[in-house]
Amino acid sequence: MNKTYKIMTFGCQMNENDSEKLSGLLKNMGYTPTEDTASAGVVILNTCSVRENADVRVFGNLGTFKPMKKKNPEMVLAVCGCMMQQPEIVKKIEEKYPQVDLVFGTHNIHKFPELLGNFLQNGERVFDIWEDSDEIVEGLPTDRKYPFKSFVTIMNGCNNFCTYCIVPYTRGREVSRLPENIVAEVKALVADGCLEVTLLGQNVNSYGNDLKSGYHFADLLRELNQVEGLERIRFMTSHPKDLTDEVIEAIAECDKVCPAIHLAIQSGSSRVLKKMNRRYTKEIIVDLVTKIRNRIPEAAITTDIIVGFPGETEEDFQETLEVVRKCRFDSAFSFIYSIRTGTPAATMPDQIPDDVKHDRLNRLLEALREISSGINAGYDGKIVKVLAEEPSKNNEERLAGRTESGKLVNFEGDAASIGKIVDVKITKAGSFSLTGVQL
Ligand code: SAH
Ligand code: SF4
Ligand code: F3S
Repeated sequence: MNKTYKIMTFGCQMNENDSEKLSGLLKNMGYTPTEDTASAGVVILNTCSVRENADVRVFGNLGTFKPMKKKNPEMVLAVCGCMMQQPEIVKKIEEKYPQVDLVFGTHNIHKFPELLGNFLQNGERVFDIWEDSDEIVEGLPTDRKYPFKSFVTIMNGCNNFCTYCIVPYTRGREVSRLPENIVAEVKALVADGCLEVTLLGQNVNSYGNDLKSGYHFADLLRELNQVEGLERIRFMTSHPKDLTDEVIEAIAECDKVCPAIHLAIQSGSSRVLKKMNRRYTKEIIVDLVTKIRNRIPEAAITTDIIVGFPGETEEDFQETLEVVRKCRFDSAFSFIYSIRTGTPAATMPDQIPDDVKHDRLNRLLEALREISSGINAGYDGKIVKVLAEEPSKNNEERLAGRTESGKLVNFEGDAASIGKIVDVKITKAGSFSLTGVQL
């Protein structure tokens, strides 16, 4: 039997963390990873549905497995992740993609060994998707990509129902893990050599609301800050409506909590924000960012922005540019609005033409680039603490790592420093990354 596997991940960090768990489960079953997809015994596509191009990529990939499976008939092809929580997509796979053997969703990845076992035993296609789940399965093995840093999912799901977004439909309602389970996982990670954890949730600032014990995100940050041997705590994403003074205070006071806040604003027009169901205004964003910068001057604040939401006028877009300039975001992920069937915005009138969306995206990117260059220039000549992660992508002779504030640094350094926090002197500041030498 061919006990090799390959997992392809299409989505966000949460999706990546799920893939690490699937990988852990497979290793426990005696499988070994391979990079050669065509020869693998098990292939899993862990899908994402957040924008249309994610869907398109998955279907494109699925097509290639038809000839691949002819050559390698033993291969088991499994598909999971957010796309599988949408019944019309599962139906399409059922009818048009017979090469897919096994389909499961976001709520039952812990069942994967059992589902695979069923398929291997009787050869019948397996479709097992759970609509929602209020249970968090603890203790799944995780096969981490890096020994020295790790994702830690602290909550599943989302209750916000932003009108453009598919995630609440694919990930269900918010369920927080118990603090003791998170702390125990982080301690075990540290014992295993981890220096840095990134806490994951669609909206980490509402962590704990469902536990009804009065324990919130700020309490979690403070408790994790006490874990001996842990050096850095990161987290994402923050929703402006839930980022409380208590959380800002915890970030400011806890030495291990990195001064890096990913605060997704989506738009700078109060009119558009209302239609997006974001429940804050332009003024609230600017006040919040001002408050963070006053309390944590070294903080890097990054964001997500969508252009071309239905009904967005040039004036609305100008307001987004204005907010971006006022907040001076360190960097941003900018997206063109993508229609997601089943969400309220998909059927809103005044969908924006593609050329207008692209034009706005380009103007936004230019504004963001200018701001990033300005901020990054402030790093020139400074000495920063960098967690060296791997050889640099563009130049194998160099190392790449991140500052506490989350800036990418490519630097001349000793390969033996990988996995360690080292001092780096910045010699050049670009708009997207910094360059330096290890001291
Ligand atoms: N929970 C996170 C975001 C998860 S999705 C938060 O609220 O911050 C990541 C990003 O994808 C979102 O912040 C948003 O900017 C973008 N996004 C979500 N749905 C989208 C859509 N239909 N079209 C374009 N971008 C979208
Ligand atoms: Fe989507 Fe909004 Fe939830 Fe983020 S907060 S996952 S954008 S619905
Ligand atoms: Fe995509 Fe699901 Fe993450 S839709 S962005 S993989 S939560």
